[in-house]
Amino acid sequence: MLVELLRTRRSIRKFEKKPVEKEKVDQIVEAALRSPSSRGFNPWHFVVVADPETLGNLSKAKPHGASFLKDAPLAVVVCADPSVSDVWVEDASIASIIVHLTAADLGLGSCWIQIRKRPHESGTSAGEHIAGLLNLPENLEVESIVAIGYPAEEKKGHPEESLQREKVSFEIYGKTE
Ligand SMILES: Cc1cc2nc3c(=O)[nH]c(=O)nc-3n(C[C@H](O)[C@H](O)[C@H](O)COP(=O)(O)O)c2cc1C
Repeated sequence: MLVELLRTRRSIRKFEKKPVEKEKVDQIVEAALRSPSSRGFNPWHFVVVADPETLGNLSKAKPHGASFLKDAPLAVVVCADPSVSDVWVEDASIASIIVHLTAADLGLGSCWIQIRKRPHESGTSAGEHIAGLLNLPENLEVESIVAIGYPAEEKKGHPEESLQREKVSFEIYGKTE
């Protein structure tokens, strides 16, 4: 059940030094390609990276929140073409979360690394840094990198009492039940 997966899912940033099997990589790729997108335009492109040197270079895409990628065995760089869809950000975000949830379903840990709108330390953008590393064509923007691997940290799902139920209204705003 998806809801059970959501109850236990967390962002994982520490990984075992163990590669992700090809069958699991294939399932993650398949899931990404099955992501819903506005009008079915599928504006995304996914770059699957397992090369440790490239992962190390990607981990330097931005000054904060990406360094753990250097110790991950796998990453999916989620890109999209803004000329294909005006809502490519939504489409690429949905695909990113599908990758994250599929990884969890396969017993893997993963974490979204935000790239869009993030600067690289050189003054260019994190996305431009990545475009150079991966030889991306000019039409593609990078939305995120999802770092993936076998978890080397244990995190409990968010407890029921932490859910912000006050952020939900029924029928009209502010009506809480
Ligand atoms: C849009 C978005 C951007 C995120 N960017 C980063 C990031 O750059 N680096 C990072 O370590 N975690 C990032 N995260 C993971 C969040 O920090 C994490 O989801 C949040 O703290 C809640 O923790 P949980 O996923 O374990 O419930 C991002 C998550 C989302 C949805």
